[in-house]
Amino acid sequence: MLSTSDNEKITRVGPGTPMGDLMRRYWQPVLLSREVAEPDGDPIRVRILGEDLVAFRDTSGRVGIISEWCPHRLTSMFLGRNEEDGLRCVYHGWKFDVLGVCVDMPNEPEAFDFKHKIKMVAYPTEEMGGVIWVFMGPAELKPPRPEFEFTQQPETHRGVSKVIEECNWLQALEGGLDSVHSSFLHRKLAAGEGLGFDGLRADATAGRLDVEIEDYGYRYASHRPIPGKEDNYVRSYHFVMPHVQIRAAQLNNDGSWLKFKIAGHHWVPIDDNTTLVWNWLYSLDDPLTKDEQEERGFGNGPNDVDQETFRAVGNKRNSWNIDRSKQRVASFTGIDGVNAQDRAVQESMGTIVNRSQEHLGQTDKAIITMRKMLKNAMAVVQDGGVPPGASDTYYHLRGIEEVLPQDAAGLEVLADKMFAR
Ligand code: FES
Ligand SMILES: [Fe+2]
Repeated sequence: MLSTSDNEKITRVGPGTPMGDLMRRYWQPVLLSREVAEPDGDPIRVRILGEDLVAFRDTSGRVGIISEWCPHRLTSMFLGRNEEDGLRCVYHGWKFDVLGVCVDMPNEPEAFDFKHKIKMVAYPTEEMGGVIWVFMGPAELKPPRPEFEFTQQPETHRGVSKVIEECNWLQALEGGLDSVHSSFLHRKLAAGEGLGFDGLRADATAGRLDVEIEDYGYRYASHRPIPGKEDNYVRSYHFVMPHVQIRAAQLNNDGSWLKFKIAGHHWVPIDDNTTLVWNWLYSLDDPLTKDEQEERGFGNGPNDVDQETFRAVGNKRNSWNIDRSKQRVASFTGIDGVNAQDRAVQESMGTIVNRSQEHLGQTDKAIITMRKMLKNAMAVVQDGGVPPGASDTYYHLRGIEEVLPQDAAGLEVLADKMFAR
């Protein structure tokens, strides 16, 4: 439970808010490289942390992310002409490079030209893993490049997709750190694609959670007794500040080995009410199949998400296409796609859930710990310090899952594999 004022503070991310200041200390993934593929191609709108921005790739291939509003008279730079290493406003022709420097002011006679005095809001970018990242904080506090392990894999071994979720980012993150819901929300009752999980992930419920604080956030393991066996299904995760989950994806539902895959999400706030959900996974052995890359069955691929607008096909307005006859016999929810099921329950709470009304239990421990860390980190930033996760200690984190004897402590047993150095 959170007080109403703490709930406000922890969810709002606009400029100048405590959580907004914290968010601006990290790299944020904002675009797929393919959205700005061509040098001098079309500029596109980007909204992140409540700020309206425009992205463009210049003639030399650099990606600029600048304010949407031209500093002359605030016209939208989305209308701009992307030409010769800069974006030119169509109203009076002012032109800006990727650093936001005004490089041309053709509407003023030379004697009155003041372009050297004009600098537009522009944020540093990085391109890695098929993703454009932006840093929106104070320039002198820019962290090292965001080298999550997925960004370092060849394209054949990596899948990255994104989808817009219509609720606050914290609700989405909480779903991602809540291991046990998988046995219910994602339970599948009959054979079929996209219905959810059966076997281990559904049968082993009532898990014990262990959480261990680390300098980037925390890692945790759920230990779920397998019915009729002496073993636990142990699934480990990392939470990387401020909104990243890294999880295991190695076993088939019967506990047999599938592939050395790691998966994860970033939940990037578009604004207080909307979230840009990143889904990524990578393989450390065989290449991923196309179905794996598109996360077919998760409700993230082109069948479930418009690949131009990144809006989900199932959403609030159509009640997530819940199918009541399927709910009776085929899956716990009657909603297709594991992550579509996640989005449905998270969006169903309203855009910002009222956390003063909740009743949390032992299996909500990871969520409670995450909230405490975010709260502390907001205070650290307000006091001028460096928050956890703003260095490079998350570069080689892996989620691992194994079937272990019931007395095994997962976080200890799996520690070496969870930190691949
Ligand atoms: S409003 Fe952009 S140049 Fe005048
Ligand atoms: Fe889920």
